[in-house]
Amino acid sequence: MRRSLKGTRFLTTRLTRTGVNPTMVQRIYMVGAGAIARLHAKAICKEAEEGQAAAELHVTDSNPAAVADFVRQFPEAVPHGDLETMLAEPARDDDIVIVATPPVAHAEIACRALASGRHALCEKPLAVSREEAARMLSAARKANRLLGCCSSRFAGLPTTGRVKELLARGELGRIYQMSWIQRRRRARSGVEYQPESRWFLRREISGGGTLMDWGPYDIAAMAETLQPVRVDVLHAWTANPRADHPVALAAPFDVEQHVGALLQFHLADGSRLPVRYERAACCHGEERTVTEIEGTEGGVSWDWLVFGEDGELIRFGDEGGEPVRETSRLADATPDMMDKPIVYFRRAVAGLPSRAIVGEQAVFNFGILAAIYDCARTGEAQSVELEEPR
Ligand SMILES: NC(=O)c1ccc[n+]([C@@H]2O[C@H](COP(=O)([O-])OP(=O)(O)OC[C@H]3O[C@@H](n4cnc5c(N)ncnc54)[C@H](O)[C@@H]3O)[C@@H](O)[C@H]2O)c1
Repeated sequence: MRRSLKGTRFLTTRLTRTGVNPTMVQRIYMVGAGAIARLHAKAICKEAEEGQAAAELHVTDSNPAAVADFVRQFPEAVPHGDLETMLAEPARDDDIVIVATPPVAHAEIACRALASGRHALCEKPLAVSREEAARMLSAARKANRLLGCCSSRFAGLPTTGRVKELLARGELGRIYQMSWIQRRRRARSGVEYQPESRWFLRREISGGGTLMDWGPYDIAAMAETLQPVRVDVLHAWTANPRADHPVALAAPFDVEQHVGALLQFHLADGSRLPVRYERAACCHGEERTVTEIEGTEGGVSWDWLVFGEDGELIRFGDEGGEPVRETSRLADATPDMMDKPIVYFRRAVAGLPSRAIVGEQAVFNFGILAAIYDCARTGEAQSVELEEPR
């Protein structure tokens, strides 16, 4: 199935930014050739075309039709019949495998990629259980390779950066609560969004519903803002409100579309912060977006879920007994949201400063998500600690 790459666009542009290997083009191996794989491939092409970093793209999928269609769209990509064949050639130091399959397959594929001596960038959610995530981290440590998660799509936004500055300078006084709420009435993956991928609705493949789907971004952004070293899940619930879209009625559908939790963040300075968390892709109340921290000297609310537009940040305070609010808009110059995971991961692999979410941090973030499910299921509080990097 292997084809010649001579003279292709990927090869004509040399690595210029990462400098990992000045004579050979970096190899990127895509596992899964569906919707998200195409967006990673576009990001890789864009970097090559802009002269940032060239790549030799390989692809495999358990569905040969998906590979064939992928190669029609990206003719430079080298198709392979299966993962084993694709990873058979000896690994080079900067080889990257992107795991772009539904969640149930992430751990197994990432572990095989790492064992082959390659770095693994895994789609979100990282895994479907804490045990799998731990296994992936062990495999990365054993192979001395990076394990990354694609939950970095909203990383590094200027609004988040401004909030971190306010906190670092103590401008809000003693912070005593955070609210992180994203409620949509009808935005279910596999129903209203991407209805052709019905696996989103089946727990045995997706691992869960909207918490597995959007929770990785919520938790990554919360962790970036506050950098907790431990998170307790004190209370949690999940629900699947009925909404009779024809796709939802036709498909096997056993995952939650509404989730809430009371979390306690343990911050690096020893303080604790209660966090009210809620996420809905389907609910029967109002749509609502709240991202807010309140302290004794002031409050702040901000956009962290921005899709290329400016983000708004509102500061709340007091002047002579009167409540005041001040709104600012911050332009976002970070890479396109869908490009970030591979752009940041390539930088991390090259040893450059990067906002990639890797290793212990990736596993910690996933652990919080899994602990919310565990708490909702058992009714018992859960706790997750950030491990020191080894
Ligand atoms: N679609 C999106 O907008 C989006 C956005 C961000 C992240 N993601 C994440 O990307 C991952 C994939 O989602 P998608 O939307 O691309 O799904 P998809 O249904 O479009 O494609 C998944 C592909 O994986 C293949 N596949 C399944 N099991 C496999 C295996 N064991 N080995 C090789 N190939 C296998 C399927 O044949 C299919 O072609 C998920 O983890 C999802 O959460 C998707």
